[in-house]
Amino acid sequence: MVPRYLAGREDILEDAKDTLAYIANGYATRSVVYYGLRGVGKTVLLTEIENIAAENKIYYEHIEAMENGSFMSSISLYVNKVLRKMSIVEKAKQYIDTAFSVAAAFQVFYNKEGEASVGVNPEMVKGVGVADTGNLQNDLTELLVHLGRVGQKIGMGAALFIDEVQYLKDDEFEALMAAIHRCNQLGLPLVVFAAGLPKIAKIAGDIKSYAERLFRFVPIDKLEAEDAKLALTEPAERFNVKYDDEAMQEILKQTECYPYFLQEYGQQVWKQIDENSRRISHEGTLNAYPNFINALDEGFFKVRHDRASEKELEFMKAMVKCGELPCQTNQVASIMKSSYNQIAPIRAQLIHKGFIYATSRGEISFTVPQFDKYLKRIYSI
Ligand SMILES: Nc1ncnc2c1ncn2[C@@H]1O[C@H](COP(=O)(O)OP(=O)(O)OP(=O)(O)O)[C@@H](O)[C@H]1O
Ligand SMILES: [Mg+2]
Repeated sequence: MVPRYLAGREDILEDAKDTLAYIANGYATRSVVYYGLRGVGKTVLLTEIENIAAENKIYYEHIEAMENGSFMSSISLYVNKVLRKMSIVEKAKQYIDTAFSVAAAFQVFYNKEGEASVGVNPEMVKGVGVADTGNLQNDLTELLVHLGRVGQKIGMGAALFIDEVQYLKDDEFEALMAAIHRCNQLGLPLVVFAAGLPKIAKIAGDIKSYAERLFRFVPIDKLEAEDAKLALTEPAERFNVKYDDEAMQEILKQTECYPYFLQEYGQQVWKQIDENSRRISHEGTLNAYPNFINALDEGFFKVRHDRASEKELEFMKAMVKCGELPCQTNQVASIMKSSYNQIAPIRAQLIHKGFIYATSRGEISFTVPQFDKYLKRIYSI
């Protein structure tokens, strides 16, 4: 849900505006990766930046990477969409055909399952030999370079927004980096704004020196207290509703200033507004607390919880029993009365599914804020 007021992201939005200004003038610039926990506001941030792109008449598309989907087949689809929008521009006419045939070749080659399809008749596509080699890096580079070239010719570039970027497989992520790298070398006006779980900073860290030149890595965290207050008071003021100080402090304490929680608590206290004073009191906030927790448990936490297998749940419960997070995998192993090697596949699976992530020191923690508290509640740990 788009918040009525996007709090505390002013600097990030200013930087994004600067980045987009290059693209709107036909120049190359560094791409951006936003990373952070679940519910901190990465998607709404991308949406806001997409609005800025739209205001500046930049060609853009929003791609959501899927856990089990093929990134290659979706990116070709969206590049095609961008090209179609560009094709209306008179100046693009003579360059767009090649770009389209490259995209078509790419699409034919990377079928829905994301595997190179066998038996494609090369005569079918004009762009044969380009973007259909089955080499992810070469093919994606060809595709994005052609898109960038059209942008350069018409003096207006393109922006690709990729959400849930942690779902890209390693080779897909590397291919994306290689393609962006080539576009940068050629000075093409194409930028990627990606967003994903903290895991992405780790992946990029593994290929670090290279990645840091290409991307700005921007952590998206919970809000500062002042901004968290604004996230609540700004929308409330439009309805002439005010928060008592104590009420506000209570909400900040329980939500730890995580945007999703602020929004949920904000909704629940709304039912507690004193009709005469138009105020939200401390008492009202306490009254709303059980509903707030219930809404989270039945929604935010449950949908995630239900995606875990028995074994994965066992692992996560052991994490909670470690006492403090982040914790060490060895600790988890000993609580589960197993060896590190025995539980390593479950750990890997949980990271893949986006439940947990490895911190920079190799310890593990939940990607969902307060997931430990939730597990404690429902399993009485
Ligand atoms: N800066 C903010 N100010 C006010 N509300 C916000 C802010 N950021 C996010 N929110 C609210 O918090 C909720 C979660 O935001 P969002 O879906 O963008 O998180 P996310 O980081 O993409 O989470 P996930 O990793 O689960 O996809 C949204 O409903 C949004 O309205
Ligand atoms: Mg999101």
